[in-house]
Amino acid sequence: MNNLTNKDITPEILFNNRRKFIKLGVASIVVSSALLEVLAKEKLPIQDLIFNKDTNPNDLKINSFKEITSHNNFYEFTTNKERVKDLAKNMNTDSWILTINGLVENPIKIDVRELIKKYNLEERIYRFRCVEGWAMVAPWIGFELNKLIKDVKPLKSAKYVKFVTKYDEDMFPDQKRGIFSSVTYPYTEGLRMDEANNPLTLLAVGLYGKKLENQNGAPIRLVVPWKYGFKSIKSIDTITFVEEEPLNTWQAENSNEYGFYANVNPKVDHPRWSQKKERVLGSFFKQRTKLFNGYEKEVEHMYKDMDLKKYI
Ligand code: MTE
Repeated sequence: MNNLTNKDITPEILFNNRRKFIKLGVASIVVSSALLEVLAKEKLPIQDLIFNKDTNPNDLKINSFKEITSHNNFYEFTTNKERVKDLAKNMNTDSWILTINGLVENPIKIDVRELIKKYNLEERIYRFRCVEGWAMVAPWIGFELNKLIKDVKPLKSAKYVKFVTKYDEDMFPDQKRGIFSSVTYPYTEGLRMDEANNPLTLLAVGLYGKKLENQNGAPIRLVVPWKYGFKSIKSIDTITFVEEEPLNTWQAENSNEYGFYANVNPKVDHPRWSQKKERVLGSFFKQRTKLFNGYEKEVEHMYKDMDLKKYI
């Protein structure tokens, strides 16, 4: 992450003279040159969000906008990854109120548009690894969850953070199917307090310079890059601070296969498939999966006394 502050970015210039500035190359103030290249190639508008760019120090190869937005897991719509995009097209995420409650001094209900104004946004180019074996690199835009945590002031008794996706049968066709739904809704996830406070943990509101596409979890989702993708819950409705470890959706569905922690770990296979390798979207060959998805340095201290074969 670089050190640009909001003062370094002049919103009027960006909004009024965007085209001219892009021509002059000044758009690199907010959009890295690698991103610009892809945006130009895919004829994407550069819009919406003002953010501090990630300098991409590890030179990660970013997947295309098309790849990231055309292959999705969002069971509330369908289990067919290629169809999510179309089915989610008309999801209305205007006036989305996020509720933060539970064991906190300052519970709040806030419109996501206000939240976006409240916190400085930054780009985070992260590796993302699904438990199914596919992976990608995505340029998310958001803010560290720990900023929000600080503002709501958790009580000492708050040990975990629970996240719940919106329940709205008119919005999400699979929720309407009742006992025939693919999973039990609302989709729920959780993090331990130290995991939630880790600087890598992001509340994402954007992708590729603009607001999140519906299929990627608009208007606000979690991104926890060292954990399997199912922890990165989409379209969040409520964040609750709790004392007990929350039961997350996939653990509730099948606790032999999915746990609470879900840390990316090539040494612990899924009961039905190996986790040693992964296929990056758009690549033919598989690559080796890294412990904690390559974020070992940033997160291993949180698990030093834990048997990672037991706490899956
Ligand atoms: N969040 C909700 N509400 N519903 C889901 O089905 N799927 C999870 C996660 N978050 C899911 C969800 C899984 S399994 C993955 S791999 C990621 O979202 C996929 O995120 P992406 O579609 O943006 O790549």
